[in-house]
Amino acid sequence: MIKKFLKFDEDLAKDGPRSNKVHSVTAIFDTPDEIISAADKTASEGYEKFDVYTPYPVHGMDAAMHMKETNIGKFAFVAGFTGLVIAFSMIGWMSGIDYKNIIGGKPYFNIPASIPIMFELTILLTGIFCVFGMLLLWNKLPQISNPLHDTEFMRLVTSVKYGIAIEHDDLMFDVETAKAHLAKAGGHSIGVVYYPEENLERPAIFDKRFIITLAVVAVVVAFGTYGLIGKVVNILPYDWMHDQFRVNAQTKSDIFKDGRSMQRPVDGTVARGYIPYEYTGMPDSLVKLLSNPIPMSEFSIERGKKQYNIYCSPCHGYYGQGDSRLKGQFPNPPTLHSKKVTEWSDGNIYHVITNGQNVMPSYAKQISRDDRWAIINYIRVLERSQNALDTDVP
Ligand code: HEC
Repeated sequence: MIKKFLKFDEDLAKDGPRSNKVHSVTAIFDTPDEIISAADKTASEGYEKFDVYTPYPVHGMDAAMHMKETNIGKFAFVAGFTGLVIAFSMIGWMSGIDYKNIIGGKPYFNIPASIPIMFELTILLTGIFCVFGMLLLWNKLPQISNPLHDTEFMRLVTSVKYGIAIEHDDLMFDVETAKAHLAKAGGHSIGVVYYPEENLERPAIFDKRFIITLAVVAVVVAFGTYGLIGKVVNILPYDWMHDQFRVNAQTKSDIFKDGRSMQRPVDGTVARGYIPYEYTGMPDSLVKLLSNPIPMSEFSIERGKKQYNIYCSPCHGYYGQGDSRLKGQFPNPPTLHSKKVTEWSDGNIYHVITNGQNVMPSYAKQISRDDRWAIINYIRVLERSQNALDTDVP
């Protein structure tokens, strides 16, 4: 088997179909010391495109080969930095210029909120560039094989010997000089490796057999995965909560006469935990009769403060002074420390939160009944804090 691929010079006549294009000149060495010194000599001679093959890692080889640091780091940095710049300019343009949107009173464009996207794009471009850069630049796609494979040279240097191959794309390359140099450096079994003929015409990656194999593998893997994840795991005894007997939204149901799956509550019924608001559209004099069921306690004030800061403070300001954070995107409300509001009963304020007042919308859907009352307790605290009496100081 191996004999078939012999490509040493001496075996030229025996070798199979191959081109006249030289790939490299190779030599075999017997000991690690020899290969180290030969690598050093080859590098000192000025060769750059050569490689050393040993059956196991030999310490000190990098230095002996005068290897420079790889460019991958710089390559990755440039790719990552490009991603960062793209993300920065993209978000900057989108949220700072093209589509300005106030979100929670924050600046249109600011860095902390953009960090996740800048991070993602940095990593994404680094990953993509490194993978494709490696395949195309370093691994030389579409070339998927190396003429050194399947040679006697490769058989020896992956088992018992050490070898050097000086490649034809080195600027100094010349077959005879390279041979002479390797002989002088102490190598034996010096040979010339040629490109196989078929390989030169068109790279092996375009080989029909390779493409068919690739397609078959892709199809088998795709259908295999689909069958396994999409079908097999949905057969009993596997059952999933999302896959159950139910009525989907906007579909017909046979359970009720009207074909709807959602029915309106029976007239006059009240859902558990839900007390309807009876004062919609009623005059102030009646609203005043509502009394606050939540006692003024440290707990209810804390709760009210939390809800107030979430739902009310964007417009009314943290202290109820009407200092909106919406920068004029919504009419500024009046202060909550006015004589009017301080003299209002809790019921009046509850009515405004529940019903809304002019431009201020109702918050009944977003804030629970108890929390609305707790907010009022907190508003009372805010009012008192602005109008403290001497007797408040102990
Ligand atoms: C989207 C902005 C906005 C939010 C959020 C908001 N309000 Fe208002 N609020 C207003 C505006 C504007 C007015 C004045 C309405 C008017 O013209 O009568 C107002 C009026 C009021 C009034 C009556 C003041 C007066 O003098 O007539 C009270 C009380 C009040 N809000 C309480 C609240 C409470 C409590 C919350 C939180 C649950 C809240 N608001 C959330 C904008 C807001």
